[in-house]
Amino acid sequence: MRTVYVNGDYLPENEATVSIFDRGFLFADGIYEVTTVVDGKLIGFDGHIKRLQRSADELKMNIKVDEPEMLEIHRELVKRNNLDQGMIYLQYTRGNPGDRDFAFPPEDTKPTLVMFTQEKKVVGTAVEENGLKVVTLEDLRWGRRDIKTVQLLYPSLAKMEAKARGADDAWMVQDGFVTEGTSNNAYIVKDGTIITRHLSNDILHGITRKSILACAQLLQMKVEERPFTVDEAYAADEAFATSASGFANPIVEIDGKKVGSGKPGEVSAKLRELYIEENMKAAV
Ligand code: PDD
Repeated sequence: MRTVYVNGDYLPENEATVSIFDRGFLFADGIYEVTTVVDGKLIGFDGHIKRLQRSADELKMNIKVDEPEMLEIHRELVKRNNLDQGMIYLQYTRGNPGDRDFAFPPEDTKPTLVMFTQEKKVVGTAVEENGLKVVTLEDLRWGRRDIKTVQLLYPSLAKMEAKARGADDAWMVQDGFVTEGTSNNAYIVKDGTIITRHLSNDILHGITRKSILACAQLLQMKVEERPFTVDEAYAADEAFATSASGFANPIVEIDGKKVGSGKPGEVSAKLRELYIEENMKAAV
């Protein structure tokens, strides 16, 4: 049984509880981060913690993220759960006002903080070998996708629609242009140039995205940060998706059409390798 963290306490998972009045439960009024663990160490921790503070500020949540304290809790959870490879999930909500009301609770309402570990193989996966199939679907999410909120119902529906169509994931499309995957940033490669949507409120500013683009620069690959169409994606030589737990995962099929050779591409493989090397050096 896992040991999880709730508001200052480490508890067996079956003893951890949150109120039915919690704003996270009633209004999806919560933010989260997922940090990957490799060899018991945290990847990109600093970036995740800074984005957490930004999400809190954008939603006017009364939260001051204490980075050393957060690191301590993350490490304690890794230790108590003997986590070698996997993720740490962290969620903050606006807390429990003791009733349901659309208006925010009083300033002094304590936010709820829960954290737990998830074991998952992240290095040397089958996806790395075989790639993923995606389908394109209309992006029906709200307009502030740069904030990492727990309103994940549409991405979850999109994932299920992808599975119903025999694929692994969905790439979401707005006005004919790909925004991102259900839980990852989207990329294509054409004639040696990596193309990925520019940062705006339309997509999550991925921590992995930032690091992967830095790796592309180290490898002297050409990058264009701009929207790309579904037709460009069909005609791409390669495609991939990045996220904390997937690193750079190759996409081999889009809407039933093979991408390039239909095999995982070289560019994403090189980026993935360098990403792991660089991030393992910097892991904490
Ligand atoms: N998802 N875009 C969306 C919509 C996401 O939910 C995520 C992350 C990303 C990639 O961000 P990062 O590189 O910082 O992980 C992009 C996490 C992993 C999740 O929901 O499980």
